[in-house]
Amino acid sequence: MTRKLMRFTAVAAALAVASLSLSSCGSDNKDDGTTASGSDNEVEVFTWWASGSEKLGLDALVGVFNTQHPDIKFVNGAVAGGAGSAAKDLLQSRLQAKNPPDTFQAHAGAELTDYIAAGQIQDISDLYTEFKLTDVFPADLLSRLTVDGKIYSIPSNIHRANMVWANPAVLTEAGLDPTATYATIADWFPALDAVKATGKTPLSVATTWTQVNLLETVLLADLGADGYSGLWDGKTDWTSPEVTAALTDFQKLMSYTNTDRDGLDWPDATQQVIDGQAAFNVMGDWAVAAFEEAGKKPGTDFTYFPVPGTDGVFDFLADSFTLPVGAPHPNGAKAWLETVGSLEGQTAFNKAKGSIPARTDANPKDFSEYQQTAITSFGKDTIVSSLAHGAAAPIATLNAISDATSKFTTGASDLATYQSDLAAAVTK
Ligand code: GAL
Repeated sequence: MTRKLMRFTAVAAALAVASLSLSSCGSDNKDDGTTASGSDNEVEVFTWWASGSEKLGLDALVGVFNTQHPDIKFVNGAVAGGAGSAAKDLLQSRLQAKNPPDTFQAHAGAELTDYIAAGQIQDISDLYTEFKLTDVFPADLLSRLTVDGKIYSIPSNIHRANMVWANPAVLTEAGLDPTATYATIADWFPALDAVKATGKTPLSVATTWTQVNLLETVLLADLGADGYSGLWDGKTDWTSPEVTAALTDFQKLMSYTNTDRDGLDWPDATQQVIDGQAAFNVMGDWAVAAFEEAGKKPGTDFTYFPVPGTDGVFDFLADSFTLPVGAPHPNGAKAWLETVGSLEGQTAFNKAKGSIPARTDANPKDFSEYQQTAITSFGKDTIVSSLAHGAAAPIATLNAISDATSKFTTGASDLATYQSDLAAAVTK
């Protein structure tokens, strides 16, 4: 489904939900922005962790929530679609219709700032004091959740978006060293050619947002961390020859990908590597949970390394949970937020999700081999903000970049048009 069609479908669904709930619940808006609607012993949690390994992560968090708050009923408001590709539009429609869930998943950084600027979520600084959270998160992460000294959400995890996941058997079959890593994107191309010669897919991707995830890692590889970060603060010129060279590399990488990509979501693309149909997949480290769910072992069944040219850089994103203005069950939401911020909640959730805990007091030994490498990298690497996952740019900019990328990768625009579409997108 294209982004535009998904957006339309999501909006139509949201309007249906909104009119249903407005006509049936007769709730009463209070001055503090919350809405009274009878008992407050439930919480609707809105995420896009609807199936597979992502749902296993959510289930683990819900398990801790049920233990910590047995009197409050968890209501699953998950909307399928990786990276919130359908959920975020539906959420926006619900927020505009004054029909918010009790809490929703939002990315730390620019995406969260959008909700704050629109007055859609509440300052929850007091919960940091109540739940003793003020000192347990990295200062840099807290600053991405804060506007004018007020904190608006509680982070559940930290993910890394610039990882390659590989199938060693497919690489061996192509005559490649399965332990090899590649210093640059250009160094990677011969390996992709070798896989192509075997008839297997060199690089699996899925629908548009996964292509944007790939794009951001190529921009990062070719422009470096400072050049990449400059794309979001105006210091790097989108029309420069350096960006043209990166887009040329992106175009070439896309030529190694599966042709059924636009009908797939990320689990399908990762599954191609799990099943040995494809050699490599560039995906955030939620992918490791899919390998684990399939019973695969690191080193033998799969390998991983930072996208060529991005070693030493951690392409960061963090999920965090909010208290929307007008949340029908604010006490339920506060209970959920308490679990999200707790050491027990973060440990259980992240073990299942592939991410690392946002809390700095979690014990690395509780986590997998891959996660221990991510914890080490997060501690010493240069941190940059993910585009595809809401950290780097406002939602409107990401939507415009996604539309331009879809146009380009489906053959409806050439490279020069793509570059000027991207340059125009960042002005949104
Ligand atoms: C990201 C999200 C991750 C993971 C991924 C794939 O945007 O932050 O937690 O769910 O999408 O859906």
